[in-house]
Amino acid sequence: MLTAEEIMHKYLKFFEGKGHAIIESKPVIPENDPTVLFTTAGMHPLVPFLLGQPHPAGKRLANVQKCLRTDDIDEVGDASHHTFFLMLGNWSLGDYFKKEAIEMSWEFLTGKEWLGIPKDRIAVTCFAGDADAPRDDESARVWESLGVPKERIYFKGKKDNWWGPAGLTGPCGPDTEMFYYTGVKERDCDQDGCGPGCHCGLWVEVWNDVFMEYNKTKDGRFERLSQKNVDTGMGLERTAAVMQGAKSDYETELFLPVMEWIRSKSAKYDEKSARIIADHLRAAVFVLADDRGVVPSNVEHGYILRRLIRRAIRHARTCGISGSICGEIAEIYIRIYGDMWPELAKNREFVLRELWLEEKRFAETLERGMREFERIAAHCGGTISGKDAFLLYQSYGFPIEITEELARERGKGVDKHGFEEELARHQEISREGTKHKFASGLADFSEKTVRLHTATHLLQAALRKVLGESVQQKGSNITPERLRFDFTYGQKMTPEQIRQVEDLVNGWIRQGISVRRKEETIEEAREEGALAFFAHKYGEKVSVYEIPGASKEVCTGPHVSNTSEIGHFKIVKEEAVSAGVRRIKAVVEQG
Ligand code: GLY
Repeated sequence: MLTAEEIMHKYLKFFEGKGHAIIESKPVIPENDPTVLFTTAGMHPLVPFLLGQPHPAGKRLANVQKCLRTDDIDEVGDASHHTFFLMLGNWSLGDYFKKEAIEMSWEFLTGKEWLGIPKDRIAVTCFAGDADAPRDDESARVWESLGVPKERIYFKGKKDNWWGPAGLTGPCGPDTEMFYYTGVKERDCDQDGCGPGCHCGLWVEVWNDVFMEYNKTKDGRFERLSQKNVDTGMGLERTAAVMQGAKSDYETELFLPVMEWIRSKSAKYDEKSARIIADHLRAAVFVLADDRGVVPSNVEHGYILRRLIRRAIRHARTCGISGSICGEIAEIYIRIYGDMWPELAKNREFVLRELWLEEKRFAETLERGMREFERIAAHCGGTISGKDAFLLYQSYGFPIEITEELARERGKGVDKHGFEEELARHQEISREGTKHKFASGLADFSEKTVRLHTATHLLQAALRKVLGESVQQKGSNITPERLRFDFTYGQKMTPEQIRQVEDLVNGWIRQGISVRRKEETIEEAREEGALAFFAHKYGEKVSVYEIPGASKEVCTGPHVSNTSEIGHFKIVKEEAVSAGVRRIKAVVEQG
């Protein structure tokens, strides 16, 4: 019986043997990716390379990437869906394509020295074709040549067999998916339509090979990329369950100690609630352990984190757990994952403190909020009004999704649109801003975003000049409208310091400096004084962006080619995020 760790090692060894360079996992909170709040798939950190930029490690890569997706959050509680998960992936950047990718997948899945899954328990799906891209008969032929019978090869449309882009635009393409026959139905389904992709649980998807040869443009067209890429994704949790003959991912060693703890504390144990608690708190631990200045809050990353923690606490009440849960569960996860993911142990105190603070904040209002909710639900008819949902949010700290979930459990709805209007009115944020907060993909690699990205490098350099070299980046998030930059510094900046920083940045912009990119090992980059605050593997080749005379940073880009393209730089806000971490919001205006 293979453990998850053994599966991971086998996977990396297999692909290393096929000429792939093993690259490190990037943080769950993207380093400089303006397109999304979280790394939702292994492709995110690789987008510039899928678009044609040469990757310093070569054309064949493999990794295990920490991912966080909230689109499947309503499925969490079943056997195999998660918010946070670990994804094994192999990548071809303009190197091999369908035939080799599928052959390698098959060998790894069924080969005796690898996973050795019986061939007759596997079915596959291929893209059925539509107006944007043709039917993928090529993949089907490769599967047949490997001995997969025709009746085990299904064709499906875009909803099922298309992957990407990561944000609104970018690399994407049809995929072929591999399913394992579990033999266990978790839910009823339509017998006739049952097969791979059916939600009953009889078939579970373990791997997909995406053939990324398209680029989705802003106006929704699919144009050919300059190179044909392969992006595969194999969920480690699901694969571990398959290899261990476990009925769900929660019975594997990746979750089991936490599930047992929850059971031991529950007065009225509920399996689905326990899975939600286990899933959400694992996600929260990994997000906090990234140590990128993200703490529970009402906006963006912080809001997702808050939702995860509060929903877990709410479900702990469903299980009849009375005391606090977050700290002890986090400790168990740090024990389970700490060896492989050293950031968990390194940031243990920060993780525990933030979880404790958030649990304390929510626990203070949860009981009263639940009473208020029951009162509202009893009198609302079929739908809870936007005003009442807002009251629960504002006065009792109920994220709208919790109100919706509670309402659903009682067969009622919530006027979410009304809630968003209330929220916009009260927080004086535009409706657009509200929408953004609820979406996971924010922007794209638009010109505006790229200008702000280069401005972020100049800002960091200016901050280190004005406030001192101890300033370290904690996180950044960029949309076409503004940049946000978190950094270590103990005090509020004075108006004079803010002006000095703006002047320095605008000075560099006026000088019209060419931005240069080169590739070197992380040690060479550091020796030359490039800023590289995020963990990199020894000897790993990285790209370094230099703005001579101003800044030099390890970064995947993209950037403008000359600082004169940026526009006028202006800081619009400087505030505290947490103890010792400040946040700047800034914009650029085209002159
Ligand atoms: N390989 C694409 C994904 O599953 O994320």
